[in-house]
Amino acid sequence: MSHAAHPTQNTTAPWKELFQSHIDKAGGASAEFVLGTVTTAGLPSLRYCIHRGFWATLPENEHNKLPKNPPIYESDCPTFTTDARMSKVYDIFATGKGKGTLEQSRSGTGGGGPVEAVYWVKDTKTQWRIRGKCWFIAADDIEGGDEAQNSGTVTVKAELGRYMRLKDQSDHSPQEKEWSWKREVENNFENLSPQMRGSFKNPPPGQPLSEGKDEKAGEGLGQKAGHLSDEPLARKNFRVAVITPEQVEVVDLTDPENSTRQIWTLSGEKGGPDGPQPSESLGEWNKIDTWP
Ligand SMILES: Cc1cc2nc3c(=O)[nH]c(=O)nc-3n(C[C@H](O)[C@H](O)[C@H](O)COP(=O)(O)O)c2cc1C
Repeated sequence: MSHAAHPTQNTTAPWKELFQSHIDKAGGASAEFVLGTVTTAGLPSLRYCIHRGFWATLPENEHNKLPKNPPIYESDCPTFTTDARMSKVYDIFATGKGKGTLEQSRSGTGGGGPVEAVYWVKDTKTQWRIRGKCWFIAADDIEGGDEAQNSGTVTVKAELGRYMRLKDQSDHSPQEKEWSWKREVENNFENLSPQMRGSFKNPPPGQPLSEGKDEKAGEGLGQKAGHLSDEPLARKNFRVAVITPEQVEVVDLTDPENSTRQIWTLSGEKGGPDGPQPSESLGEWNKIDTWP
């Protein structure tokens, strides 16, 4: 994997530890957040999603017995799972640099459009906003096979690769070659409940009931599913979504007389938007304290 122009190569993002500790209080890898996308008409579109942890450090799940990737990477990238046929996926493909078509958004790996994810953590009275880009990974084209060199796959591997750090910096070990993107997607699916896995065999989300469903393909509500590798229909629709953060903000409303707002922005040098000035430079990130 290429590690060129790595914005978070050496250190954990300065906001990650606090964010993770707050998210843990809101349910950890089942915390709810609101995801905002921009439609092709330039309008906002929001929906709730479930935080599934951070890319490359999938949470332990006692029901998941699949072989795992060697635990050599970590990232500051929140993940969720979704269905390629949903409108958020098209929004994100269409508003990315590559201006993806509806067909591309349903066919495989890609994305890159802007998103904002917002998390309200009642226990800590903090609101977190994460702005960045969002990428989708499909099991069938992310590695091997004929489609593996499509531009979506190449772009996503490069963009996410920039955010994936080796936990042990001295360890450019042979395990790097063993780390499989496809295995990571399969394990993300396996970490879901059988009912939730079955929802990827639902009839097309948002399509009028009057158009029916493709029973031959196995579409139907309320199904269960097994391993992703044994489920062609679910595999066609299932995506791991990964947010690559560029600006992160926390508002702490614990004490009305001392409410705080902190904003961290990925520096221009690292390909980020640089953020409001004057700021304090913390490695790859610029930090500023503002009135709430
Ligand atoms: C609590 C809650 C959690 C949800 N989690 C997800 C999720 O993780 N991923 C997802 O795609 N949709 C999730 N949904 C459904 C979305 O809110 C939305 O209805 C669906 O994804 C279609 O959205 P879209 O057409 O805007 O893409 C969740 C809904 C609720 C109420």
